[in-house]
Amino acid sequence: MTTKDQLLLYLKKNQGNWVSGELISNNLAVSRSAIWKHIRKLKEEGYVIESAPKKGYLLSKDSDPISADEISEGLCTKIFEKKNIIYLKETDSTNTRAKELAAQGAPEGTLVIAEKQTKGRGRRGRSWFSQPGGGIYCSLILRPIMQPGETPRITLMTAVVLAETLISLMKLKLRIKWPNDILINGKKLAGILTEISTEMDAVNYIVVGLGMNVNTLFENFPREIKKSATSILIETGNRVHRIKLIQEYLKLYEQYYDMFKKNNFEPIMNRWRALADIIGKQIRVDVIGKTHIGKVIDVDNDGVLILKDDQGRLQTIFSGDVTLARF
Ligand code: BTN
Repeated sequence: MTTKDQLLLYLKKNQGNWVSGELISNNLAVSRSAIWKHIRKLKEEGYVIESAPKKGYLLSKDSDPISADEISEGLCTKIFEKKNIIYLKETDSTNTRAKELAAQGAPEGTLVIAEKQTKGRGRRGRSWFSQPGGGIYCSLILRPIMQPGETPRITLMTAVVLAETLISLMKLKLRIKWPNDILINGKKLAGILTEISTEMDAVNYIVVGLGMNVNTLFENFPREIKKSATSILIETGNRVHRIKLIQEYLKLYEQYYDMFKKNNFEPIMNRWRALADIIGKQIRVDVIGKTHIGKVIDVDNDGVLILKDDQGRLQTIFSGDVTLARF
């Protein structure tokens, strides 16, 4: 273990309390100036550490930095391993970075995660608000053996994994909104952006991007999304440890992905249907240049929405923005 790691461990054991430089120096057998140097490094990595003369150092209780080390600590997954976790303090978009890495041959299970995105991308050409420290912005590289037409299933599965992660850790009352949003109290908490590279009739790689508002305060959301977005902090009043969330997400991801690879998609889809609670509902779907209104008959295993309009005609819709119709 490096001196920096030892120092971090020491501060973590005393998290929320002041520890004197002298005590640390004696315990770790390093000079006070070396401690100061490592403290500066830890701060650069995102740890919130206060320092004061005569008091020493204090690792704040709200300190919640993301690092590959912290994510991999205690993570018992097969495809997600430390050497394939790429942490970036700042990037344009983790999906863009992950696509570049995938094109260069990065293995399945590679995770690109950033504290801050300057050009976070959403579905349908939208941008994704990515406040540093407030959320989780990450992209997974997968290399499943499947037909390109089946890839929407990965997005459906990811929405289930995400919902189950939030339910298992926080018992959140949430809903999946077709095709891939996670809503709480009608507001958007998280979204998924899946991008693929295909060749003839095979998939080269899939990049599954996840954006989630975790510890974002209401006042920090931009005005345009204040009414439609929410965060776990806003909904529960509690700050959430992002590392725990990411670890649970990766753990469940592997379980569901194993099921998926064994062609056991039906139970995943059934769970999606239960969490979405959209079948039988009267909805409006805005597709570019067109609006469909009707009753949802089903969402099939490829994520296609099947709608019956008021004249009894069936419509199949591949993508769009859904709102529950009010008459
Ligand atoms: C949506 O609901 O429109 C999808 C949002 C997906 C945002 C995430 S943040 C991490 C990853 N990188 C991006 O540029 N986009 C996705």
